[in-house]
Formats: sequence, structure tokens, C-alpha cells
Amino acid sequence: MTAYLPGDDARARYMRIDTAEILKRFHFCERAIVKAQAGWLAGIPLLGAKIALGKHLWEDSLTGDALRTRVFELRYPSRLLEVGSDAPVVGLFEDSIQAPNALAFMKALTEVYKPQLLGAYRDYLAIADAIADGPSIRFLTMAVRDKEAQIEALGQLTGALEAVSSEDNRCAADAWVTALQQRSAQVGALSLEAPRPVGPSTAPSDSPFAIPDVPARDSAFHLCRFYWPNVIDPTFSYGEGVNLQLRSAVSHLNEVWAIETGGAVLAAFADRLDWEFMVDAARWTYDEARHTNMGYERLTRWGFTPAELPLGTYIYDSARGQPPIIRLGFLHYFETKNIGKKNERAEAFASYQDSASQHDMEFDWADETIHAHYGRKWLDALRERYPEEIPDRQAILEQCDRLVDAVVASATQEDLDDIRLVATSMIEKANRQAG
Ligand SMILES: [Fe+2]
Ligand SMILES: [Fe+2]
Repeated sequence: MTAYLPGDDARARYMRIDTAEILKRFHFCERAIVKAQAGWLAGIPLLGAKIALGKHLWEDSLTGDALRTRVFELRYPSRLLEVGSDAPVVGLFEDSIQAPNALAFMKALTEVYKPQLLGAYRDYLAIADAIADGPSIRFLTMAVRDKEAQIEALGQLTGALEAVSSEDNRCAADAWVTALQQRSAQVGALSLEAPRPVGPSTAPSDSPFAIPDVPARDSAFHLCRFYWPNVIDPTFSYGEGVNLQLRSAVSHLNEVWAIETGGAVLAAFADRLDWEFMVDAARWTYDEARHTNMGYERLTRWGFTPAELPLGTYIYDSARGQPPIIRLGFLHYFETKNIGKKNERAEAFASYQDSASQHDMEFDWADETIHAHYGRKWLDALRERYPEEIPDRQAILEQCDRLVDAVVASATQEDLDDIRLVATSMIEKANRQAG
């Protein structure tokens, strides 16, 4: 009998193709949860939740991207990536978007989906071979840190949302989470093992998901359509000095429409464009969440409470009833058309010794140059892929102009009186503070 040297069983537990199979399963679950979080951004009222989820979905997209790249490396030269026998567990993750209300969605993220991803990654790291599979260990270690922090943030946000939710919504949310847990027990939670094959989807809900026409907004703020008088009243100047500091911070805060729109666009085109689009759209959405947060942070530091701050909907409203390509047009056009003024404003803030506004404006400018590229790239890609359905970029931007002009023209005296009062109170308070 021929004798051989012994192999190391522990290190060799998973061979290359087995490893690729597990990482592929993880990728599809991350992909599903990125899309669902994006789709829900307009439907979740809490501003803090929109900002947090914008960040989470970006982190998840990076993990999803690293997983996908690694699967291709391990399966080289194959570039095939199919859900295949992972359909039961991937389907469970895809159902996340069907939540009956925002609280149910948030609760399911907190109690079902993120903990399953975290648990599966920890299990993988416990058995992964640090020599052969070092690259996977590196990005999954980061993913574990992300998921831990996400679950903690989600726990607080879900608690805050629960506190302001109706009894009906709380009951529906609990029932939803219970149904998902039962289904998860049926197919087997996301793990290193392949899911159990089950019959046709027993999804607890079969109502198709749709991006809301009216965004859910945080009632702690002063909710309105037009967030500063100059939007509807050309005699009210954009201003300089304190007025400019306020106007710029209120503009940043009101980029909340861009978080909602980035998410809506990601969800709408996720299945019609390449994965690369999801990665770009996730970053785009996260950037808009940071811009919103920049405004919120500056205004809070100047002593304003949410009730004193206007949160408007007119740009989101302008795309009501329009196909998602128009929302992509808005995101590209409205966020980048003022790009030339940003450096000028940063200089004005420097001359006021307002380094926070200057700093935010400079970083915002850098993000917008990336977004201008994203907008051109994906509007053109859609036009090329679906020429019958998608107009050219110029026609889309012209339509965006017409749509927003119509909403601005619909402003009433009541809208104007309301926002004038809010802006004047803010300016007076700021002037008192500036001394
Ligand atoms: Fe922005
Ligand atoms: Fe932007």
C-alpha cells in the first residue's frame, strides 16, 4: 500500500468551488437587501432612518460587490452568476421589499435580515482558511463590523418609529416579522448550507411593491411643499451673510428628496441594468444622505429644532405619476445644475469664517462631480438599451424643467405665506444669535 503525507482536514474543509457557492448565495442576499432598502427610502418617515439606510445600503452594496468579484475569481474563467438552488433563501430576502408598512420593513431588517447576514458571515469567518481564502476574510470581517453597527442603529430607529406608529401598523409589523421567521425556518436561514428546496413561494404578501407618489416625511419637521420663499417668489433673494448661511443649510437638509429619489431609481432599474449600476446608485444615494445630514447638523448646531426647519416635497412631487426615468433625470439635473455656484459659496463662507459651511460645500462639490458622471453614464446606458422607451438625455432634462415649472406655478398664496413665515422666523433667530 502506498503511503502519503497527511492533509490538513480543518483548513481544507471547503474546496474552491464550494466556497464560491456560499459566497454567491451571500451576494444575492445582499443584492436583494440593497434593492429593498433603496425602494423603501421614500416610504420611511423618519429623517434619521432615511439618512442611516442610505449609508447601510451603500455598505451592503460594497460587500455585495466584493462577494461578486470573489466568486468570479474562484470560478475563473466562468462569469456565470445565477441564483439557481439558492432561490428559496434569496426569495426570502427578495420578499423584504413587500413589507406592509415602514415599521414592518425596519423591524424585519433589524430582527430577520441583518442578523441572518451577520450570523452567516461570522460562521464563514470561523471556518475560512486564512491562507487560501484571505481575500474573502478581509472583506467579510469588514462586513461583520458593518452589520453589527447597522443592527444597533436599526434597533434605535425601529424603536423610535414604533413609538409613533399606529396600533394597526404595529400589529401588521409583528405579524410580518413572525411570518418571515416561519418561512425562514421552512427554507433554512441564510447559512453556509444550501437552503432546503421548497414549493412555490409562500411569501406572506403578494402585493407588488411600488415607489410611493407621496414621500413619507418626519412630522417633527415643518412639512411643506416649497422649502424657501425664493423657490416660488423671485423677489425673495437667495441672500448673503446669515441669509446665505441659512439658505445653504436648508438646501442641504432638503436634499432628502435626492435620498428618496436615488433609492427609487436604484430599485426601479436594478433588474434592468448591470450590477455596476446598483453600486453607483448606492453610492449616489449615500452621498445625498450625507448632504442632507450636513444641513441637519449645521442647523442643529445653530440652535434650530426640527419644528423650526422646513422640509419640502416639490421636487419629489414634480415626478409624480412619471416613469422612473424622469426621477433619474431629476436626480441628475437638479443636483448638478448648481455645481458651478458651489465653489463661489464655499469662498463666501470662508470670508464669514463659517468653516463648517465651507467644508460641507467643498465636499458636496466633489460628490456632485461624481454624480454628474453617474447621471450621464446611466441615462445614456438606458437610452442605448431601451431606445423605444427611453428618450435622449436632453429631452428628459427639458421634461424635468417643464414638470418642476408646473409644480412651482401651482404654488398658492397659502404656500407662500407659510414658507415666508418659517424663513423669516429662522432669519430673525439667526440674526439674534449672530449678535
Ligand atoms: Fe447632493
Ligand atoms: Fe448629487
